[in-house]
Amino acid sequence: MHKTLSPPLTSEFEKDVHKGLTDFPKHLSSKYFYDKKGDRLFQDIMAMPEYYLTNCEYDILETYQHEICQLFSKGPNTFNLIELGAGDGKKTKILLRHLSENKIDFKYLPIDISQNALDQLNVSIQKELPQVTTETLQGTYFEVLESIAKLNGTRKVILFLGSNIGNLLHHQAIDFLNRIQELMTDDDLLFMGFDQKKDPQTILDAYNDAQGITAAFNKNLLSRINSELDADFNIEDFLHWEVYDPETGTAKSYLVSKREQSVRINKIDLNVHFKQWETIHTEISQKYDDQIVARLAKKAHLKIVTEFSDTDNRYKNYVFKKSST
Ligand SMILES: C[S@@+](CC[C@H](N)C(=O)[O-])C[C@H]1O[C@@H](n2cnc3c(N)ncnc32)[C@H](O)[C@@H]1O
Repeated sequence: MHKTLSPPLTSEFEKDVHKGLTDFPKHLSSKYFYDKKGDRLFQDIMAMPEYYLTNCEYDILETYQHEICQLFSKGPNTFNLIELGAGDGKKTKILLRHLSENKIDFKYLPIDISQNALDQLNVSIQKELPQVTTETLQGTYFEVLESIAKLNGTRKVILFLGSNIGNLLHHQAIDFLNRIQELMTDDDLLFMGFDQKKDPQTILDAYNDAQGITAAFNKNLLSRINSELDADFNIEDFLHWEVYDPETGTAKSYLVSKREQSVRINKIDLNVHFKQWETIHTEISQKYDDQIVARLAKKAHLKIVTEFSDTDNRYKNYVFKKSST
């Protein structure tokens, strides 16, 4: 009997889409939000009044730039400032400017999965801060971090801003922090943003704005599957839905199928059936408090050196070192 073979799943995107849409319940990874259109939509999100996270972290970096840069530059010789998921680097530039104005010797190494984000970042740094030695590195966090950690003995200051850690469940966050910790030496620092628990309505509004920018960002995952994997998702047949559980501090984003429907994804030879009101889980945005951060750090063999917060304690940046225990 002649059997037609399915095309092999070559890219990670193809594999993840196939797995996520054949699992129950369905899911897709938030790391695929960021193509050219997704990068632009995320910049629009950061500019929305509801998305308080960017302004809080911007204020912290602006207010404490001197203290933060002193911490970074304390230690032997030069250092590499490595940023995981750098995006447009708008907040990081506060630190880059302060470091370079104070003639601190360092190299900036932004890592991002999106080449488009890195290209734009490179152009803007060349224009605004041409004196900063920059080398952009495209890839996923650990692909790149592991390759550069092996390279040389230069001290590392690792930045992970925007509460991006919140895209991970606690056990994944511990793994993630532990992997970073294993790549750190005793002189290295990790500087990270953690969005804090607060009025649940403020959190819901940040991920479900009145203009529908977050909805467009979430639905861009489906547009991306349409264009890159030759699929026929009707975007209007899905709605963006956000929930927040104040007990666990977890905000979750979904795409919900408004009707029963079937979607064809040609490139991975997959037909996906949706019942009416069936969901695709796309993102978690975890919120924290000091106790949770201390627990994560301890389990990942990190110690908290210090922390910086905005005036209302809505957002915090913590500085970690490798712990000896
Ligand atoms: C939410 S944005 C935050 C950008 C920036 N850190 C900030 O705070 O404004 C996340 C960035 O991380 C990148 N990113 C997401 N997942 C990634 C991964 N697994 N590896 C590398 N970069 C990733 C995205 O392309 C995007 O530029």
